[in-house]
Amino acid sequence: MDKFQITGGRPLEGRVAISGAKNAALPAMTAALLTNQRVILRNIPRVRDISTLRSLLEDLGVDSSVTHEAHGNRIEIETRQLLNPVAPYELVKQMRASVLVLGPLVARFGQARVSLPGGCAIGVRPINLHIKGLEKLGATITFDHGYVNAQANGLRGTDFRFDTISVTGTENLMMAAALAEGDTVLENAAREPEVQDLADLLNKMGAHIEGAGTGKIRIRGASRLHGTEHTVVPDRIEAATFLTAAAITGGELVVERCNPGHLAAIIAKLREVGVRVLPAGEPGADGNQALSVKAEGKLQAADMTTEEYPGFPTDMQAQYMALMTQAGGSSAITETIFENRFLHALELARMGADITVNGRRAVVRGKTPLSGAKIQASDLRASASLVLAGLAAEGETLIDRVYHIDRGYERIEEKLTQVGARINRISEFD
Ligand code: EPU
Repeated sequence: MDKFQITGGRPLEGRVAISGAKNAALPAMTAALLTNQRVILRNIPRVRDISTLRSLLEDLGVDSSVTHEAHGNRIEIETRQLLNPVAPYELVKQMRASVLVLGPLVARFGQARVSLPGGCAIGVRPINLHIKGLEKLGATITFDHGYVNAQANGLRGTDFRFDTISVTGTENLMMAAALAEGDTVLENAAREPEVQDLADLLNKMGAHIEGAGTGKIRIRGASRLHGTEHTVVPDRIEAATFLTAAAITGGELVVERCNPGHLAAIIAKLREVGVRVLPAGEPGADGNQALSVKAEGKLQAADMTTEEYPGFPTDMQAQYMALMTQAGGSSAITETIFENRFLHALELARMGADITVNGRRAVVRGKTPLSGAKIQASDLRASASLVLAGLAAEGETLIDRVYHIDRGYERIEEKLTQVGARINRISEFD
């Protein structure tokens, strides 16, 4: 297993470009199952989860090809026939987002068999709402041997209210409803930019979706969808991670190709703790813009509670915790989305952080100097937080299990090296 070796203590300086959003690219790729025509997707990040989904789609019978472009990959996807409606355990356990094939498969082909994901490092993460919603749309659901089977002879529009807001749940049902007969209304829907991006793609494919980005999404079903081209939105979590990297190292970065509108809660929190974040230049035709970030003076602690969009994202909680170890005072961090997303706290403590975890609340007392140590990544965003801590620490940090970070950050060690970090990948075969 690859490791990262980081020698900390150097302020980051320079420019870094943000990749396309993994969590927008994944549903976009599964949306391509909804048509027999070619869907071309751009700005696809070069990360492991995308390769995992590509293998799953190929097993289903999808043809896909990838071309390198200046910004990310271009993927062409064409689904003429379904060879095999199964998302097997081996892939779903590697990547829970595999469940995003469920809605499209049952809507277009009337059948899907998807492994139940089981628990994961950050929480229980059931998919009961995806299943309930599909049942309401007219699918027959059965379970056997750890799999959920969905069958339908045409889906019918319905009204469905999510008891809990779910990002991939909203995406799955939006995709299924796009090919259902009649109207569907999804209430208490997720408002994340990735949900909006998927609705934009589906509308380009001929779907009729209104209200994506609000809690109420209306979908008028279409009898068929067609091919199109689409560029996925920038990765707001990658952008926020680099903003935080500048802040934690006392550096100054220009973070290019981000969408500041998607980062509002994060930028507001960074400003509150004493980080200067400003637009750098004009927005491009696609709405993307560069941001300049600089840590000015001392950081001050501030409490933070994770929330669904437009609140502070759970996917930045771990990185924010690393930052708070370097802020003066005490910050209470409350995780409301996942019940077990504090595994990084123990690793940060091994580096010298003063953190007390009590259920869903962690209190960080700073500022404590961090010192390099051998530590272990437990999930994707936790690994990013450990990289940030390593950049701020005195001496050498060795992070094990960086395959977690490769799932969702494109060439993070190269991007960090370009802006002055001392970080090396030690391959298991070196
Ligand atoms: N939930 C249920 N039942 C369901 C679905 C969800 O109870 O049927 C609960 C979950 O257990 C959780 C909450 O609802 O407590 C929110 O989960 P959600 O379904 O929104 O999460 P997700 O769709 O599985 C996506 C992202 C995650 C991100 C969360 C929250 C993708 C592919 N994944 O997951 O991203 O943390 O939304 O914003 O979009 C990551 O990129 O590192 C990552 C984990």
